[in-house]
Amino acid sequence: MTLFGPKTHALQERAQKVIPLGVNSNFRYWGQKKTPYVSQAKGAYLWDVEGKRYIDYRLAFGPIILGHAYDEVDEKVVEEVRKGALFAMTSELEVEVAEKIVRICPGVEMVRFATSGTEATMHALRIARAYTGREIIIKFEGNYHGFQDYTLWSTYASADTYGNARSPIPIPASSGIPRHLRDLIITLPFNDFEGLERVLRSVGEEVAAIITEPAQGNCATIEPMPGFLEFIRQKCDEYGIVFILDEVKTGFRIANGGAQEYYNLRPDLATYAKALGNGYPIAAIGGKREIMSIIGHGVAQGGTFNNNKPGIAGAWATLTILEREPVIQTIWKRGQRLMEGLKEIFEDNGIPAVISGYPTMFSFSLGVEKVTCQRDWQESDRELYLRLQEIAVEHGVMFDHDPREPWFLCYSHSDADIDETLNVMADVVKQAKK
Ligand SMILES: Cc1ncc(COP(=O)(O)O)c(C=O)c1O
Repeated sequence: MTLFGPKTHALQERAQKVIPLGVNSNFRYWGQKKTPYVSQAKGAYLWDVEGKRYIDYRLAFGPIILGHAYDEVDEKVVEEVRKGALFAMTSELEVEVAEKIVRICPGVEMVRFATSGTEATMHALRIARAYTGREIIIKFEGNYHGFQDYTLWSTYASADTYGNARSPIPIPASSGIPRHLRDLIITLPFNDFEGLERVLRSVGEEVAAIITEPAQGNCATIEPMPGFLEFIRQKCDEYGIVFILDEVKTGFRIANGGAQEYYNLRPDLATYAKALGNGYPIAAIGGKREIMSIIGHGVAQGGTFNNNKPGIAGAWATLTILEREPVIQTIWKRGQRLMEGLKEIFEDNGIPAVISGYPTMFSFSLGVEKVTCQRDWQESDRELYLRLQEIAVEHGVMFDHDPREPWFLCYSHSDADIDETLNVMADVVKQAKK
């Protein structure tokens, strides 16, 4: 089966002559004559190079919280960029953005900026190592913390390669990751209370940080079991470990104050990017004053583009709107209707489905009754998901071809968009079942 049309296929061919796979992130490649090429987007919609319109639930992998090309954000960015895009000096605007983040995010007392989620987690890991004087990092299978080498282990590989859950084998997600880094990483299944306890009993005093996404935003939005995040908090206190909550996907999305607000949780450090700038490049590392204060005192953190004006102005406008209007509440109501509608469609068609996550960011795993970690998610029917996705795309509903990537909603998705999506999905599921 091919997707999209002749202009798309021609552009893919042209792109592949100068860009590996013809895309600028491996995740954007869906296959030959199956990979989307976009021309523009506005609100909840995007148009491909053929001129076909889609209701967009990918939202650039999550950053678009208000809507594509959101006028108020874009106007602020243009206004600020006209005064200069980059200075290697600090502006009042970025101080204001830092103040807003500290006000909105419950566990954040100080903040430093970066340009991508990858950089944010990379900096957070260094700060944690510097603060504790230790080197080992614990991460959970199926979580993704960006393309830096330290935590790019047991992310997208087949869970069959992960070994026994009592003694998991960390699997690098790429050639080129130094094998010596394996000595510095411990991987565990998500939601594994007992496994975490066991590992800490043996090496807890050597662990610098436990890093986790609050819910597995890169593995079908698997939610934390009740008490799991609190258990990590408690264990970090017990062993003097820095708790890093990676809110790159959940920040400014599942609540204004992200998972920290939603779960009433206080990590030591948190990382942000994505929804912070509604599509403009900006990221942040924030956390406890005591820990953040070591930056600049023998601890390195920097970057030429850390205060890039489009990112800073984009964040300023996005946070202003989030604080002024019921953005998340509005998306929540519409997302809830979408989740419930999809559940009904799967039930009507006799397809077991686990719908997990939050109305602003959720996933469905097909053919399974329960999903608590990547190991049991792997049992889900991914072929059916892909079939369904390809038919949905043909019918103008755009979500990712990878079932681990959530559906994202934004403030610009209307009730009518949800109705249209549910109508399409009712037909799509029937067709895919055949
Ligand atoms: C939880 C999480 N952390 C970090 C990253 C990396 O962010 P970026 O792609 O901005 O480098 C991502 C990206 O999807 C993510 O989902």
